[in-house]
Amino acid sequence: MKENGLESAIKIGDLRKAFGEQRVLNGINLQVRQGETVAILGRSGGGKSVLLKLIIGLQSPDAGSIRVAGQEITKLEENELNEVRKKIGFLFQQAALYDSLTVEENVAFPLSRHAKVSTDERSKRVHELLADVGMDRDLQKMPAEISGGMQKRVGLARALALNPEILLFDEPTAGLDPITAAEIGELIVDLKRKRRMSAIVVTHDVHGARTYSDRMVLLHEGNIVAEGTFDELQSSQDEFVAQFFGYGSRS
Ligand SMILES: Nc1ncnc2c1ncn2[C@@H]1O[C@H](COP(=O)(O)OP(=O)(O)OP(=O)(O)O)[C@@H](O)[C@H]1O
Ligand SMILES: [Mg+2]
Repeated sequence: MKENGLESAIKIGDLRKAFGEQRVLNGINLQVRQGETVAILGRSGGGKSVLLKLIIGLQSPDAGSIRVAGQEITKLEENELNEVRKKIGFLFQQAALYDSLTVEENVAFPLSRHAKVSTDERSKRVHELLADVGMDRDLQKMPAEISGGMQKRVGLARALALNPEILLFDEPTAGLDPITAAEIGELIVDLKRKRRMSAIVVTHDVHGARTYSDRMVLLHEGNIVAEGTFDELQSSQDEFVAQFFGYGSRS
């Protein structure tokens, strides 16, 4: 398949993953179009983080296909995978900053490693990225010296450093106060509008997801059991979907 603007950013077909006897993903089909933001919701332990890790090749599936930016990644060697990963900005559920680097150095890291920019340019870019997430005042602090929510925001700035085509966010707003969470939501909307980035956002925040996603997907017992806009899912006749969105099982 040739790479062109019409191909999906991500296309997953019949994806399966088990850990021993435990079947976590049981034949997932999911497509993210260019410029689209898809929110993935589901119970804790349902396999959302595993799904993201499969998409960047940190784990390998038992079966199925994963196409990222037009390329099948399930059979790639590590060095080929690294090339694909440059197109992806990834925010782990735990911010996973480098402990021994300052806030500023954490965000500069992908730039010094993968981008050919001057020191001045790099510094300017780091400051812009950190300003976007409201973290431009703590440049010299170490990760251990900032709060969990602040670490998350720095992680977000780092994920954006290389201007990726595709963003994968695992709980970008968990542990943040509602105002900061809303700001991160706005940032996601902005990224979509200005740069036509494609994104998957894993979240437990249904109402936040409503504001920044084009589509929501509900993962349950290894499968996608519902897919649609917030309004569509909210009015679902399915008991689990209705229950998940908080409108079911009330008498
Ligand atoms: N490396 C691993 N080895 C064994 N089991 C694993 C591994 N990674 C994940 N699992 C299991 O897969 C299941 C799904 O985990 P996952 O982290 O994807 O859940 P999640 O949907 O992200 O949950 P949460 O909302 O709490 O973050 C869990 O039961 C977990 O224990
Ligand atoms: Mg998770």
